[in-house]
Amino acid sequence: MAADLVISHLRAGYGHLDILHDVSLTVRQGEFVALLGPNGAGKSTLLKTLYGMTTHKGGSIQWKGQEIAGGKPRVFLAQGFGYVPQGRCNFPTMSVHENLEMAAYTLKDGDLEGERNHVYELFPILQKRRNEFAGNMSGGEQQLLEMAMAVLRRPEILLVDEPSAGLSPQAITLVFNELKRLHQGGRTILLVEQNTRKAMDTAERAVVMRLGHVIWDSPKAELSHADLGQLFMTGKVEKASAASPPHGIH
Ligand SMILES: Nc1ncnc2c1ncn2[C@@H]1O[C@H](COP(=O)(O)OP(=O)(O)O)[C@@H](O)[C@H]1O
Ligand SMILES: [Mg+2]
Repeated sequence: MAADLVISHLRAGYGHLDILHDVSLTVRQGEFVALLGPNGAGKSTLLKTLYGMTTHKGGSIQWKGQEIAGGKPRVFLAQGFGYVPQGRCNFPTMSVHENLEMAAYTLKDGDLEGERNHVYELFPILQKRRNEFAGNMSGGEQQLLEMAMAVLRRPEILLVDEPSAGLSPQAITLVFNELKRLHQGGRTILLVEQNTRKAMDTAERAVVMRLGHVIWDSPKAELSHADLGQLFMTGKVEKASAASPPHGIH
């Protein structure tokens, strides 16, 4: 299977500020990758960069063989990227139904009803709540709405930033189950999470960032929770899997 997203030696930040120093990462079509790391590692900045929302300073982002680093958000959107930012990003005084309409404004061929029905099939909870103000729903339901708003544009790759933040354990389970279902439905997912246990349980591969670098990239089976703690704290892990040493570790 061709590698869909190939990030090489990417440098990016905000204005003069350099945040991503040298990030290389490949995500294959249909993969579910968890992007982990301590606060301030640059995880959100990487997702924002994959949606054209930071200052590109060097390196490349290839998507299906095409270079798109430094493109504006509309370039990434048009190329099939979907982005669900951290925190609430719906229109709280609009209904679920109206929120989905707002999310559809970028659709070129304008089949709003068709796309909305497709999303309702994927998220039956939202269909039940279609006339509810988004802001009146639980945190978990709002997170599902925000994922649905991104999914409505039929992205091929979904970038999701900390969907579990601030949610109850039941809501977290709900959100992760939906992510799993979206993945099973064929979408490629790059998930940033602080809830490392849930992320490791759900994703196929774990990538760890620290201080603007990728410091670990391996199938998750090679990384225990204890290893992860060490990586977060020190950037190194003493006793890694004997089977295959990680690449990219500093
Ligand atoms: N809009 C911004 N302008 C300037 N600096 C920012 C901005 N957003 C984040 N940063 C800085 O970038 C660094 C990485 O942040 P972030 O990507 O949010 O990390 P993470 O998501 O891993 O916690 C932090 O030092 C943070 O202060
Ligand atoms: Mg973040």
